[in-house]
Amino acid sequence: MTIQWFPGHMAKARREVTEKLKLVDIIIELLDARIPLSSRNPMIDEIIQHKPRLVLLNKADMADQSVTNEWVAYFAEKGIKALPINAQAGEGMKTIVSAAKEILKEKFDRLRAKGVVNPRAIRAMIVGIPNVGKSTLINRLANKNIAKTGNTPGVTKSQQWIKVGKELELLDTPGILWPKFEDQDVGLKLAVTGAIKDTILNLEDLAVYALRMLEKRYPERLEERFKLKEIPNDLVELYDHVGKLRGCLAGGGLVDYDKVSELVVREIRSEKFGRISLESPRDLILEEE
Ligand code: G4P
Repeated sequence: MTIQWFPGHMAKARREVTEKLKLVDIIIELLDARIPLSSRNPMIDEIIQHKPRLVLLNKADMADQSVTNEWVAYFAEKGIKALPINAQAGEGMKTIVSAAKEILKEKFDRLRAKGVVNPRAIRAMIVGIPNVGKSTLINRLANKNIAKTGNTPGVTKSQQWIKVGKELELLDTPGILWPKFEDQDVGLKLAVTGAIKDTILNLEDLAVYALRMLEKRYPERLEERFKLKEIPNDLVELYDHVGKLRGCLAGGGLVDYDKVSELVVREIRSEKFGRISLESPRDLILEEE
């Protein structure tokens, strides 16, 4: 899905999420485990205000596990529970309900103290940027046989709730929010991970960014995959090496740099360099120093 975000769209998206906020007990904020900050809406705190929230680090199957653990600790330090999940395979689904219950324990305890014997199910809404996996997660949680509970008083007629077991009800439409794309670094990370597919960014810029990122974070994998004794400083040298190795050639045996760029981007997106995380909480510490 390609969405062009204009100020009007942003205002509308924000309005929609704000309206639905009133209907739910908790916000489930879906992030990409490989880029938890770059896949975040820049105004999320302002939009959801003090509503309780659970962060899900989706596509954890594609991220570097040790870095994902660091992110979980990072969010915990901020008082936010974060869970790594894989919506595609349905991993971590059970933990979502128990974490939501835990986060809302006080609220529901208060209800019980007021004499509500059988408090209703927890109501939740999923929010996230395009392609982070919202629909995949909703389908997973709904167990593919979406049981709709019908209209609830005070709720727009078209608004449906999906039952997730007995204890959770999910709004069937997620809140779609925009990423912080005015930041070029964020745009590049979104494009490298495939969140922005038909990239408006130049393919060569993307490949160069991917190569530099691999060189910084996973140099051994770059060396191994492209059979390098050491990574050349000179990009042209690197492109020439990869082009010859992989047969990305134009007429006359010259290396076709566009083909090399395409290959690099395709391979990084299809996990040929293994599970990678493009940002880690350590970067933030370094930035602050
Ligand atoms: P959205 O509603 O937030 O826009 O995202 P959506 O569910 O459409 O998911 C976007 C892409 O991410 C889909 O791939 C989906 O399969 C993939 N995806 C979602 N969750 C996970 C996950 O936990 N792990 C992995 N590896 N992938 C995930 P696609 O390429 O658009 O389609 P397809 O490959 O399923 O055909």
